[in-house]
Amino acid sequence: MIVLGIETSCDDTSAAVWDGQTLLSNVISTQLVHRNFGGVVPELASRSHVRLVVPVIEQALSEAGLQMRSVKGLAVTYGPGLAGSLLVGLSLTKGLSLSLGIPFVGINHLEGHIWANELAHPDLRPPFIALIASGGHTQLVHVREWGHYAVLGRTRDDAAGEAFDKVAKWLGLGFPGGPVIENLAAGGNAKFVRFPRAFLEEGSLDFSFSGLKTAVLNYVRSIGPAKTRQHLPDIAAAFQAAVIDVLIAKTLLAAKQTKAKCLCLSGGVAVNRALQELLVERGRVENVQVLFPPPALCSDNAAMIARAGQFYLEQGRFSTLDLAPNPSLNL
Ligand code: KG4
Ligand code: ZN
Repeated sequence: MIVLGIETSCDDTSAAVWDGQTLLSNVISTQLVHRNFGGVVPELASRSHVRLVVPVIEQALSEAGLQMRSVKGLAVTYGPGLAGSLLVGLSLTKGLSLSLGIPFVGINHLEGHIWANELAHPDLRPPFIALIASGGHTQLVHVREWGHYAVLGRTRDDAAGEAFDKVAKWLGLGFPGGPVIENLAAGGNAKFVRFPRAFLEEGSLDFSFSGLKTAVLNYVRSIGPAKTRQHLPDIAAAFQAAVIDVLIAKTLLAAKQTKAKCLCLSGGVAVNRALQELLVERGRVENVQVLFPPPALCSDNAAMIARAGQFYLEQGRFSTLDLAPNPSLNL
């Protein structure tokens, strides 16, 4: 079944064509306008989606070498995300479904992130643990079967990516913060200063990054601008190490608690090479396999939505035209 996936939940406008076995295209247009504001501006995001979504779909079809009439099913993110942004993709999908006479299914964006691992590793079979770490979410999920998810832990305040973005903003490094902090950290000494790690109650799989964020802010204020500038790579490395330590410890703990033998990473923060490498290394010691998708499938993309969509469409589990966007949808 040829599925067209559409993703407009945040600041990436994306469309992808998946033929059930091969990813024929995955076009992602990242809205650069938000860089001027140090974060995603919801109103600008939805306006940009309106402008971009049709050209992005046309490009996805063209790269796949297909016309719209070959598409037999549609999959679209209907939550969580920004209400106005979700509405653009969902309304367009409903229109396409009606006019083409083909079914559509609304997909939970977080479930999409988990499926990204299956796209990259088609042999992947549940059960496994998924860590979803992005700008909006940090969750540990026990994937018992496809379609059956138990959330084992989530952030109680900021998401991991959000902490990268805010710290980068304070350090004057621009938006998004993850890539620039990772690059700086590669040349820094992570032991230059030790920032706190919030492990919360014993055995807890929840996360908290706001204390770390504040600790970095207080530290930078205490040493002043000149020393901050001089030690930017060291501060970036120390901050990144604190985030990674907690993500890795809790992900391995989730594997231990559930006796899972496979861990999957996804979301924008999963692009981080230091996180990937350390988790692979620590996983090897604990005899746990660690998988992650390539960068284009880690961050927001429509390929993961199309893949999840195929799972539901093939079972005849279609959505109806009264489906509304759900900005706070849970797994
Ligand atoms: O999944 P994503 O593209 O969009 C959301 O759903 O949020 O994730 C974006 C987040 C941003 O917070 C960004 O700073 C972070 O992922 N990120 C990274 C890296 N690349 C992107 N965080 C750490 N290291 C990176 N290399
Ligand atoms: Zn996402």
